[in-house]
Amino acid sequence: MARLKNIGVYPGTFDPITRGHLDIIERGLKLFDLLIVAVAESQSKAPLFNVEERLDILNHELKKYKKIKVESFDCLLIDYVRQKKASTVLRGLRVISDFEYEFQMALINRKLDPGIETVFMMTSESYAPLSSRFIKEIARLGGDMNSFVTPNVAKRLKEKYGVKKG
Ligand code: COA
Repeated sequence: MARLKNIGVYPGTFDPITRGHLDIIERGLKLFDLLIVAVAESQSKAPLFNVEERLDILNHELKKYKKIKVESFDCLLIDYVRQKKASTVLRGLRVISDFEYEFQMALINRKLDPGIETVFMMTSESYAPLSSRFIKEIARLGGDMNSFVTPNVAKRLKEKYGVKKG
């Protein structure tokens, strides 16, 4: 009997993707036959990059990985995971304050579908304080973003804010 694929979904807003997200993706890849990086539209967060731009950035950053697929979704996460025949949601934990929100989200998702598990990975120490919001603030004010995002993402941020410096 052919082995069923072990498919994981790593959801997020990715506005934009940071080195912290990349760290989770690279380590998470070891757990799955296929990892779907799923970009939530997240209109309520009023993202800086629209969905097409975020998909474009992610596809550029992740093109070297064979076991990754990048997609967007605009529905309940659990419905999307089911639709993809995935078994697991992958999330990163950075700091203790993430725990409450993530715990709540995992419990709600389990109530919606007990067959789907949420797996958490600890973000590597050096990326623990990162968040897309802080990176956007640094970009807007012309600060050095190199330790937080890849050169391509830094370029896209500078273009967005029309920053000449750096
Ligand atoms: N390294 C660095 N930063 C990280 C990170 C990591 N490993 N993991 C998360 N972050 C940051 C993000 O950059 C983001 O920063 P910001 O808030 O400053 O923009 C923050 O942590 C949280 O972002 P993210 O992981 O993208 O989560 P989110 O809260 O924006 O989105 C969804 C969570 C998309 C998974 C959730 O809203 C969802 O499932 N939506 C679909 C609708 C749904 O099903 N709702 C019911 C859920 S119970």
